[in-house]
Amino acid sequence: MTTNWHEDGSTILLPPKAAVTASAWRHHHILDLDDFTQDEIELILHITGSMKEVLARPIKKVPALRGKTIMTLFYENSTRTRLSFELAAKSLSADISNLTASTSSIVKGESLIDTLLTLESLGADVVIIRHPQSGAPNLAAQHIKGSVINAGDGWHAHPTQALLDMYTMRAHKGVIKDLKVTIIGDTKHSRVSRSNIWGLTTMGAVVTVCSPPTLLPVGFNQPGAYFPKVRIEPDIHKAIEGADVVMVLRLQLERMQTGLLPSMREYIQLYQLNEERLKIAKPDALVMHPGPMNEGLEISTGVAHGSQSVINEQVTNGVAVRMALLYLLAGGKKA
Ligand code: CP
Repeated sequence: MTTNWHEDGSTILLPPKAAVTASAWRHHHILDLDDFTQDEIELILHITGSMKEVLARPIKKVPALRGKTIMTLFYENSTRTRLSFELAAKSLSADISNLTASTSSIVKGESLIDTLLTLESLGADVVIIRHPQSGAPNLAAQHIKGSVINAGDGWHAHPTQALLDMYTMRAHKGVIKDLKVTIIGDTKHSRVSRSNIWGLTTMGAVVTVCSPPTLLPVGFNQPGAYFPKVRIEPDIHKAIEGADVVMVLRLQLERMQTGLLPSMREYIQLYQLNEERLKIAKPDALVMHPGPMNEGLEISTGVAHGSQSVINEQVTNGVAVRMALLYLLAGGKKA
């Protein structure tokens, strides 16, 4: 059932179909999921499964990316994304260096493009970038020859988070097609929700969005909008009813202008996912959150750490998904 993709000593086993499709991989960058087909997302999820197998070994390391140089360039704070990319690169035997804007020459005024050219001059094969400005990774991709991975840009996109979310859903539910996924919270500022909506609708899930009107993106479901159609349901009870997956978003207070919410108390009353509301979803519904959480605000502590929560699993799966992406971008074509 499986085939050995590499002949260089690394034993990453792929199902035959995945190995064949991987050789036709066409992406040089991962900027968002809006230009990914269902087959391409399937391929990433397949290879993620193979990477989970590598990570389950006593020695969690294969030489697939030996000699490749990966660099992270983070203009915003991160725990999960940065660490999981680092672990992913190390498990594939790549060299990885991390640059944080606050401790670099960016503080002295060096521009994004000059910083990228510096990383290129130092030999970066892949640059993983997080930036507060939407579109920064797309700009980066126009200026360097190596691959760019978007690790979250402004309100725009967080494709690797959406892929790990989809992998986690599929691991539990078997399929993504026809899953009822309800996304609750601050969709206006959420790059996670945008990438999830692209990915989930491409895979055939039925997505419902539940947000206060002031935290719903302008143009959602408008004629001519460059965005997939979703169901918008402001009533949290109707939105959750019958859901297979309830994904809660962080209230992004740092990106919010004042006046978008009357009060935190009202937000909790109307939009917090708590034990009582979770009962309206299917009994086996998954609870997800990309993290970091404002526990007690958008999600109650009991739900966040309850039996239906897969939030810690999402974090774990982030390493394997990012291994799959690094492999496809920097090593896949060697097969
Ligand atoms: N979900 C997510 O992107 O988390 P970090 O900000 O910790 O990377």
